[in-house]
Amino acid sequence: MRFPFLFATRGCRAVYRLHQKQFLSPVPPLWEHRSSAALSTQLCKDDRSYYITTPIFYVNASPHLGHLYSAVLADCLHRYKLLQGFNSKFATGTDEHGLKIQQAAEAAGKDPLTFCTGVSKQFRHLFSSCNISYTDYIRTTEQRHREAVEHFWSVLWNKGLIYKGSYEGWYSTQDESFLMPSQVGDALDSLGKEIKVSLESGHKVEWMKEENYMFRLSAFQSQLLDWLRGNPQAVQPERFHQAVLKWLQEDLPDLSVSRQRSRLQWGIPVPGDDEQTIYVWLDALVNYLTVAGYPDKHNQWWHVARHVIGKDILKFHAIYWPAFLLGAGLPLPQVIHVHSHWTVGGKKMSKSLGNVVDPLERSQMFTADGMRYFLLRQGVPDSDCDYTDDKVAKLLNAELADSLGGLLNRCTAPALNPAQVYPSFCPQSFPRAHGGRAVHEDYHMLDAIQKLPAVVEKHYEAMHIYKALEAISVCVRLTNGFVQRHTPWKLDRKNNEDQRWVDTLIHISLECLRIYGTLLQPIVPETSNKLLSRLGVQPHERSWAGLNFLARYQGMDCPFEGRALGSDSGVLFSRLEPHNADKQKPKKTKKSANLK
Ligand code: MSP
Repeated sequence: MRFPFLFATRGCRAVYRLHQKQFLSPVPPLWEHRSSAALSTQLCKDDRSYYITTPIFYVNASPHLGHLYSAVLADCLHRYKLLQGFNSKFATGTDEHGLKIQQAAEAAGKDPLTFCTGVSKQFRHLFSSCNISYTDYIRTTEQRHREAVEHFWSVLWNKGLIYKGSYEGWYSTQDESFLMPSQVGDALDSLGKEIKVSLESGHKVEWMKEENYMFRLSAFQSQLLDWLRGNPQAVQPERFHQAVLKWLQEDLPDLSVSRQRSRLQWGIPVPGDDEQTIYVWLDALVNYLTVAGYPDKHNQWWHVARHVIGKDILKFHAIYWPAFLLGAGLPLPQVIHVHSHWTVGGKKMSKSLGNVVDPLERSQMFTADGMRYFLLRQGVPDSDCDYTDDKVAKLLNAELADSLGGLLNRCTAPALNPAQVYPSFCPQSFPRAHGGRAVHEDYHMLDAIQKLPAVVEKHYEAMHIYKALEAISVCVRLTNGFVQRHTPWKLDRKNNEDQRWVDTLIHISLECLRIYGTLLQPIVPETSNKLLSRLGVQPHERSWAGLNFLARYQGMDCPFEGRALGSDSGVLFSRLEPHNADKQKPKKTKKSANLK
């Protein structure tokens, strides 16, 4: 049997598939922004659509730090796209079916739906506490999802891609995953009993033998290889792309996509066969389509879908999911953004080790912005990162409280800026050709900040958020160096020339801060809002298109010049005591209070 490699080929979608091959960013860098208007009018309306998802979270236990990380990454990309003027949809939610949840509900002595509702609420609460600005929160127990799954199953069935068969092999309930014998090893459980475990996750596996429905996964091997080879950006970072290619060169057997109802009751029954329950991963993956409006209203969103996932669920997203989609005749996700894991003391977080980090508690301790900044600044998608409270406190003190907060404080302090305005820029003091009071390093700084939005854009697009934050942090240091070099507080304000120079120094510094505040909005929305409000930048002036750094230096008008600063002169980000970070909430120290 041959299955056509179905890519949409009409109208807008054809244009988008071209993008996918050479894709980096559909939006030109900032300094070419004005000319991009002409280009975007040629593109179809939905070329400005963007659809980003997190994995849906299992409700067998409370949320942990790794879950928040997946959500913060996706939230950052969603907010960034909104700033760029995209129509962005952002979905998250909970994965509520399957044996693992059925067993967890039993252990808690609750009926499954009540149990799921309780834990799903915990995720929702965590996300709202951390400003995760999802536009849709899906639960797989919802009716709209059941309809989407049933429809999806019927499409595969009608195409002859599902058949009744018999499965015999290893199954890990914890991972809800079938394993090949080569993926299983020996281990001892906590009582010293010999058990079989998954070599990848370390979770216990059991032998199962069942009559169930099988999906013709093997038929898609070469199409999946073609897709990955033709779209080198499809799975990012590169090492995960390579891992999937490698898996695909090995044996790819058909996949069991149902369980006997007698073993698994908590799930969606196979349409037309009440004796079988749909495999939880097939059920769960369809959530991305449900949110897009499947089966009849998904087109706008479905061809621009991107998934943020952790490395442990790569196989499900980069092999099973694309194969299901190909089978159903639907476009494949544009990008699968993969991230690595957070460990504690070098070990995987687990209840039995007692090293699970509670993200809600930490976001109360370090603030929501503090946790978001830490996770995105320290988290490297390519490799695992180790979490400690001490690291969080040190990083936030150095970069948000001292470096960024200190800069804002210096430049807006009444001693230096008694009129509390965005002062004027004097082109004679800082001429485009060298010759005024500015020195070589100052020109270097302007150049670096002028280029910063394009640098940040490149890193946001690739989900290298830590690189974007590193670039911003370097520029904040350059601006602090600029202020320090010229010591405006030592100049004689009664002298007109000095006064113009002080104003120019402050104007430039505030312009730098405005760029940092705008670019940081996807990372630390509350802190950015505070910073931009203090600078007097209105909400409609905070978009990517409005960045336009130091217009006066380019000979253009600056809308901020002469404008009153915002009245909230409070500390931008309060310092934390590293040694007490485990116990204490942020408090104002003498130093930060003085920075007002
Ligand atoms: N329910 C499935 C996903 C179905 S999507 C169609 C699932 N859920 S999960 O709750 O176990 O994991 C959700 C996300 O959290 C995954 O992206 C996973 O990689 C991530 N993390 C779980 N532990 C993690 C860390 N220790 N560190 C970082 N992220 C980790 O899988």
